[in-house]
Amino acid sequence: MKPDRVTLVEVGPRDGLQNEAAPVGAAEKIELVRRLQDAGCREIEVTSFVSPKWVPQMADAAQVMAGIERRAGVRYSVLTPNLKGLEVALATRPDEVVVFGAASEAFSRRNINCSIAESLERFAPVVEAAHAAGLKVRGAVSCALGCPYQGEVTPDEVERVVVGLKAIGVDHVGIADTIGVGTPLAAQRALERALKHYPLAEVSGHFHDTYGQALANILACLDLGVHVFDTSIAGLGGCPYAKGATGNVATEDVVYLLHGLGIDTGLDLDRLVDAGAYISGVVGRPTASRAARALLARRVAVSS
Ligand code: HMG
Ligand code: MG
Repeated sequence: MKPDRVTLVEVGPRDGLQNEAAPVGAAEKIELVRRLQDAGCREIEVTSFVSPKWVPQMADAAQVMAGIERRAGVRYSVLTPNLKGLEVALATRPDEVVVFGAASEAFSRRNINCSIAESLERFAPVVEAAHAAGLKVRGAVSCALGCPYQGEVTPDEVERVVVGLKAIGVDHVGIADTIGVGTPLAAQRALERALKHYPLAEVSGHFHDTYGQALANILACLDLGVHVFDTSIAGLGGCPYAKGATGNVATEDVVYLLHGLGIDTGLDLDRLVDAGAYISGVVGRPTASRAARALLARRVAVSS
């Protein structure tokens, strides 16, 4: 049942950098996107058009979008929580926008300052306007496997939001373990609820690796036939409104896993390692990717 080919949506420039304590400059973000493209990334979540008071790290969204070198065949997506964000985003010519809701009421309030029902009302005109502009719309369901404020989150709660997103015309749903607490069966149970309402190609998994379960969760989702996952270069990432959660699963680790399984990704692992080393240097921390660390150590061993 495992797919032959998997699409990875690179969320490093957005999820990866939205939580960095020291600001990363627009020039470095633009350079990261260039290196990701060189490594074969064809789906890149570049930035988010959110309130700079809420997430100052993304205040340069328009500048980053203006600065990236557009390549044919690459889809550039951005987060747009409301019409204001969408209006500014549209001027920067994204290919896709992302609305982000949550399976837990508490997280919805903390992250986007409204209830789940209000968020869906707010997203509806965003979806409509994005479609009118010819863009695809993804919807993220945050805290699908657990919430830092509410605790446990049930598959019923996930399905309720999936149904709500479908009702307003969202094209694709991403089931997100924002705080990285999920385990493989829980991941399958959550994604199965999305698959009741969306076709296989329009359901993706977004796993943070706080408890070291992200690769196992991806493997479990592959067994459902799911073949789109969000990953972040060097394992960067986190949400400012989910304290204690660590980064997303590292792109390099997922690529190592998939290539080992004989699954095509279209990505060049060596060049991903280069891109990861670049951004790790910028943020001043070693990469969180185990595969990248091993490959970097091997490079040193081979050259000495
Ligand atoms: P609010 O304060 O309720 O908004 O925030 P408001 O409509 O009352 O406006 C307040 C002020 O914000 C106004 O400015 C607006 O103009 C401005 P003022 O008059 O005070 O000067 N404003 C904006 N400015 C720029 N861009 C906008 C925008 N909207 C309003 N789009 C809002 C509501 C949604 C804006 C806020 O809560 C927000 O920006 N939240 C974003 C939080 C965020 O980015 N979280 C991280 C992304 S989600 C995530 O990481 C999870 C994910 O990776 C999946 C996973 O792992 O689970 C996707
Ligand atoms: Mg995330």
